[in-house]
Amino acid sequence: MNTLNSPPVAPLLAQLFADAAQTTKKMGEMLGPMSREERVRRMSDPNADYRRFFSMVKDVHMAVSPATGALLYMLARANGARAIVEFGTSFGISAVHLAAALRDNGGGTLIGTEFEPSKLARARDNLTRAGLADLVDIREGDALETLARDLPATIDGVLLDGHKPLYARILGLVAPRLRPGSFIVADNADACPDYLAQVRAPGSGYLSVPFADDVELTMKV
Ligand SMILES: C[S@@+](CC[C@H](N)C(=O)[O-])C[C@H]1O[C@@H](n2cnc3c(N)ncnc32)[C@H](O)[C@@H]1O
Repeated sequence: MNTLNSPPVAPLLAQLFADAAQTTKKMGEMLGPMSREERVRRMSDPNADYRRFFSMVKDVHMAVSPATGALLYMLARANGARAIVEFGTSFGISAVHLAAALRDNGGGTLIGTEFEPSKLARARDNLTRAGLADLVDIREGDALETLARDLPATIDGVLLDGHKPLYARILGLVAPRLRPGSFIVADNADACPDYLAQVRAPGSGYLSVPFADDVELTMKV
């Protein structure tokens, strides 16, 4: 058995994913019918008032899929991660997967980021219920500021899942601390073309492939 598949984490994640499906449904009703192209266009708009948007949907989990959550756990276990950074924590679903991997690796720190205070409180509560709070430091405020200081010397893994047009800038903050074998998972990667161009460019120092539906999996080489 491992932390991810055992109580209290496994039943908690089952409940959180069920809750997330409900809030996603409500968000769909709130925003009205939208094609995939329109959804991507809105998410990738560099001029969007993202503070206003994320405040409007502060009750929506917007979580990674269960498959992406499992992928995060596997990558962090596979490279023995001890220090991970997460851009966009929300209610803490992805954070639970990453912190479970840290626990099974023998310890470490996940630095999370979230600017919605009510979400931050829910994430902290969920991590406490998961028995993983001691491994997680969620920084309140805009990640562009909170990740601009006090990062670990080496970062073994990164999840990019906040405002999509900021992925390239967030990468710029963590990149000097990545080591060969560090992973980056970018969710909703189809909404961040500048980030994709950067990590896929020959000579970028990364190996990067699309993975599953809308996830970009990148490794520092
Ligand atoms: C897609 S959700 C993250 C879901 C989470 N990774 C999970 O799987 O459970 C994006 C979250 O990032 C937060 N966010 C977006 N841009 C941010 C920024 N610049 N700084 C801090 N938080 C941000 C939003 O408030 C929202 O809760």
